[in-house]
Amino acid sequence: MIIAANFKTNKTRAQTRDYMDEVNGFIRSENIKSEIMVFPPLTAFDNFGQGATLGAQNAYAVENGAFTGEIGLDQLKEFGIKTILLGHSERRHILGETQEEISFKFAYFQSLGYQIVYCIGEQLETRKAGKTALMRYIETQLVGIDMEYENLVVAYEPVWAIGTGLVPSNEDIKSIHADLRAKTSRPLLYGGSVKVSNMKEIVEIDNVDGVLVGGASLYAGNFCEMIKIAEEA
Ligand code: PGA
Repeated sequence: MIIAANFKTNKTRAQTRDYMDEVNGFIRSENIKSEIMVFPPLTAFDNFGQGATLGAQNAYAVENGAFTGEIGLDQLKEFGIKTILLGHSERRHILGETQEEISFKFAYFQSLGYQIVYCIGEQLETRKAGKTALMRYIETQLVGIDMEYENLVVAYEPVWAIGTGLVPSNEDIKSIHADLRAKTSRPLLYGGSVKVSNMKEIVEIDNVDGVLVGGASLYAGNFCEMIKIAEEA
């Protein structure tokens, strides 16, 4: 199982330190075997000791240079970051990242051996258009992506389920993950309003190898509880 926390634009460096102390302490004391990842804001990168893998929510596909407001490989290397989230719906739909830009970043970080958590997912109008339309849309988010990259993790996150409390039915998740399984043998995460109360049923769905959690991961106690549930499922 892979359980990942995406803080988005939440938490300061000090708050992240407290969080990581609690979560890493939990991982060690409970002897957690699942892979735990935390994606804090870039300003909170630090060395937090053994436990969760620290990942970047974003970076520019460059070592360094003149790209105001971006960070590159040099800044990631300083903190030993070797995991990156790419294609998140907020970057696609709010920050306007195109598939071309995302696949360029993918190729760059793949060439460096990074672990890539690659997010895909449809918006509500596509969901309403039915499964065929949905999978056709997902296909457009796989253009230029090496689906058998050895350090790839795919996260299926319907946009309409992110931060809304809405979750597709277990049958729908099962059916979409089955289609994704035909496209990759790499781990498949589900994301979108995952919380303590629905964690068990979600991680028990066929071809769900873990979860990517936003809002419900922000409280360390909650996140630890979710780790425990996944570990026991
Ligand atoms: P959520 O976000 O858990 O708050 O719905 C998930 C995500 O965007 O990764």
